[in-house]
Amino acid sequence: MAEKNTAILSFLFSLVFLGLTSLSLINALSSNYYDQTCPKAEAEITSAVKKAMLNDRTVPAALLRMHFHDCFIRGCDGSVLLNSTANNQAEKDGPPNISLHAFYVIDNAKKAVEALCPKTVSCADILALAARDAVTLSGGPTWNVPKGRKDGRVSKATDTRQLPGPTFNISQLQQSFAQRGLGTDDLVALSGGHTLGFAHCSSFQNRINNFSSKQSVDPTLQSSFAASLKSVCPAKNTPKNAGANLDSTPTTFDNRYYKLLLQGKSIFSSDQALVTMGNTKALVTKYASSKQEFEKAFVKSMIKMSSISGGGQELAWCCNQTSYKIGLRKLVSKPEGHTKLLIIDTATTNLKGVESKFAPALFTLLCIGHTLRKLAAKACCSDGSTSCVVAKLWILFWNEEQ
Ligand code: HEM
Repeated sequence: MAEKNTAILSFLFSLVFLGLTSLSLINALSSNYYDQTCPKAEAEITSAVKKAMLNDRTVPAALLRMHFHDCFIRGCDGSVLLNSTANNQAEKDGPPNISLHAFYVIDNAKKAVEALCPKTVSCADILALAARDAVTLSGGPTWNVPKGRKDGRVSKATDTRQLPGPTFNISQLQQSFAQRGLGTDDLVALSGGHTLGFAHCSSFQNRINNFSSKQSVDPTLQSSFAASLKSVCPAKNTPKNAGANLDSTPTTFDNRYYKLLLQGKSIFSSDQALVTMGNTKALVTKYASSKQEFEKAFVKSMIKMSSISGGGQELAWCCNQTSYKIGLRKLVSKPEGHTKLLIIDTATTNLKGVESKFAPALFTLLCIGHTLRKLAAKACCSDGSTSCVVAKLWILFWNEEQ
């Protein structure tokens, strides 16, 4: 029996290996990626974003920033969406991401999309689409998002140190963008994302208190604007949630950010840095005088940023947990411990075989969509043996310790 199990496992391992190899070859993104497999996915995502926005006007800004932070760490692979586990502190809990919010919008969109087309649309794509919707629904441009990203399994809080910081000067910003294949034009256009949203005092404290040994306040800040920032963010006992909007129309996607930037009314040193160099200042001036030019450049750069390729290889069941956890070594050493082995036919996404010993409660523990849970209840394999395993199988070995 043990020998038979080992043979089946090595067969399955080869299939998994082949699967991974072929997946890594299918990386190119395309605008019509889900046209055949899930044509209604985009509408479903838009409706999830719309619904959330009605209750909370800060949602679009949160989604746009979330997508940027996803793409800048390990490429756009949805790794920012993953929760920390007992053994791993995820990106979500890295210092710059503590203020990210509205993850529930992506989780809800994924649930709605799973109900339509199970295991078809990646979380990384859902986030890219939701970020586009966030811009459009705030009065900004729309565009066709290239799709086909895969979800990553690795998410480390320490990686978030690689995100550009609000105190960066122009060369640090350029370097950070260049490392991801983005140019100075992209830097100036994408910084226009600061037309939406809010910043906590800690993100711009350096400009208004103890700026340098000679000046307490950044002299490039317009003086009455600096005074208003200081009044909401006093040097001592700053309230935890205090801060300032990134421009004067924080829920509207417009070119106000650039206009204010030219007047010394930007929030971060990294914003101000854009007017410290001739060519970047020329772009700021261009976008300040034409919303159309800004939108054109923003769309172009968003498509570029959201195409930064990640090492993702899976389609997650839901967006806050990795689904593809293989603990083959454990499985082999514990061939009779079937309780955590779940086998799924990748071609149909139907559950073809489930060990009868599978504790039903495990399905609620696992991040498996409603549809799959129903399928699991009807699973074909009732004899409790591994012999019901069919070809084209996928193994998901659910174990936090992997
Ligand atoms: C150029 C380098 C960038 C730096 C240094 C930077 C830094 C920051 C910081 C520090 C915050 C405030 C966090 C807080 O205090 O809660 C923020 C907010 C924000 N950023 Fe950026 N950012 C950059 C680029 C971008 C890009 C490329 C986008 C999108 C295209 C973006 C979109 C946003 C949005 C929408 C918010 C508001 C978030 C909210 O209200 O929830 N940022 N950014």
